[in-house]
Amino acid sequence: MKPRIGIHALGLAVPRRYVDMEELARARGVAPDKYLLGLGAREMAVAEPGEDTVALAALAARRALAASEISRQQLGMLVVGTETGVDHSKPVASFVHGLLDLPSAMRVYDCQHACYGGTAGLMAAVEWIASGAADGRAALVVCSDIARYGVGTPGEPTQGAGAVAMVIATNPGLIELDVGISGAASTHVHDFWRPLGRREAEVDGHYSVQCYLDAVATAYRGWRGRAIERDVIRRDGMVSEHLARICYHVPFCKMARKAHLHVRRCDLEDAGAPWDAEAEDARSAAAFRLQVEPSLGLCARIGNIYTGSLYLGLAGLLHAQASSLTGQRIGLFSYGSGCTSEFFSGVVAPRAAEQIAAAGLDEVLAARERISIAEYEQIMALPPTAPLARRTGPEFDGNFRFLGVTNHQRQYATR
Ligand code: HMG
Repeated sequence: MKPRIGIHALGLAVPRRYVDMEELARARGVAPDKYLLGLGAREMAVAEPGEDTVALAALAARRALAASEISRQQLGMLVVGTETGVDHSKPVASFVHGLLDLPSAMRVYDCQHACYGGTAGLMAAVEWIASGAADGRAALVVCSDIARYGVGTPGEPTQGAGAVAMVIATNPGLIELDVGISGAASTHVHDFWRPLGRREAEVDGHYSVQCYLDAVATAYRGWRGRAIERDVIRRDGMVSEHLARICYHVPFCKMARKAHLHVRRCDLEDAGAPWDAEAEDARSAAAFRLQVEPSLGLCARIGNIYTGSLYLGLAGLLHAQASSLTGQRIGLFSYGSGCTSEFFSGVVAPRAAEQIAAAGLDEVLAARERISIAEYEQIMALPPTAPLARRTGPEFDGNFRFLGVTNHQRQYATR
C-alpha cells in the first residue's frame, strides 16, 4: 500500500502591526468599498525591518514544530519558499536551520518562483517522502515573504507579510495530498517581477490578473483530467463542484472569486452543452460562498503573503471548518507570477480540527496591534537595515528579530 503523505502540522507568523483598510482607503481618497468589496480586504499586515523574511520564517517554523509531535531529530529536509530573500547566496533556509538549531544531517535550501516557491518546496518534500529517500524522516517547508508595492501605488492595498511553515510527513494530521495528481501551467510573461536591488515589485496589475486566470484554466484542466483518470473525482456534471472546498492563491480576496468563476467556466465550456448565463450567475455566487469564501478569513486580515498565501487560505479554512470537512477532498491552486502554477488536491485528515487548534491561530492574530496610516508610512520609509532593537519587552516578546548587519553578517535575536 502507498504511504499516506501530506501536511501534518502548520505554524503561522505575522508582523505585530496592521492597518485597517477602510482607514487606508480614506487616507488615499478612495471609496472604502473599493478596498473592502472591490478587493475584499479588511486589514493589512505591516512588517517593520526587524520582522524580515528570516525572522518570520523562523518563528512560523518553531510554531509548526511545537504544534507537531515530530522532533527536530526526525527532520531530513528544510525548504524555504520565498521571493524576498536576504542574500544573493545564503538561503533563508540556512538562517532558519541555525536559528532553530536543527540537525546537521539534512537538506537545507530555498526555492524561488514568485508566489509558487513554497509549492515547489512542498512538492519536492512530498516526492522525497514518496520516493522512499526520506527513509522515515519528515520535512519542514516554510513559505515566508513581505509583499511590498509602495505607498500610493495601485498595488498598495494588496501588500501584506507573513510566513506559514508546514511539517510534511506520512499519516498527516491536516491533509493527505493526492500524490502525483496535479496540473501545471507555465508561460514566460512579465506580469509581476522585482529587479535585483529593488524592494518594491514592478507589476502590470490588470495583466497579472489575466495571466493568473489563463494559468488556473490550464492547471485545473490538467488536474481534472488526471483526477478523473485515476478515479479520484467523479466525471459527471460540474467536476469542480465535487470538491468540497477550493483554496486559491490569494493576492487579494476578490481574485479567488474571479478564479473560481473561471474554473466553473472551464467545466461549462468543456461539457459542450449550452448554459443559461443568468442561472449560472446565481449558481456561481452560491458555489463561491460554499466552496471558496470559508478559506478567505485570514487572507482578508493579513493581505498577500506571496508564497504562503495559498497555505494561509488553507489554514483559515481548516481553522473555520475542519471538523465538518473530515474525509472530504479539497482543491488547491498555487500561482507564481512570471509565471508558473499548479492545481492539486487532498483529503482532510480525521484529526485535522485538533491539529489546527494546536496552531493557535486566534492567539497569533490577537497579539497584533493596529497602527495609524501615518505610523505605517513611517515604517515603510525605514531603510531595510533595522536599528538595534531591544531584546525584551512588548516589541520583542521572545520572537526572532533581525538586529542589523555586523561584518556583512545578518544578526538575529533568538530569545
Ligand atoms: P486598480 O486599478 O486600482 O483597481 O488595481 P480596479 O479599478 O481594477 O478595481 C478593483 C476592483 O474594485 C474592481 O472589481 C472594481 O470594480 C472594484 P472587479 O471589476 O475587478 O471585479 N471597485 C469597487 N467596488 C465597490 N465599490 C467601489 C469600487 N471601486 C472599484 N466604490 C489591482 C487593482 C489588483 C490590479 C492592483 O491592486 C494591483 O496591481 N495589485 C498587485 C497585483 C496583483 O495582486 N495581481 C494579482 C494576480 S498576479 C498574482 O496573484 C501574483 C502575485 O501574488 C505575485 C507573485 O506571484 O509573487 C501578485
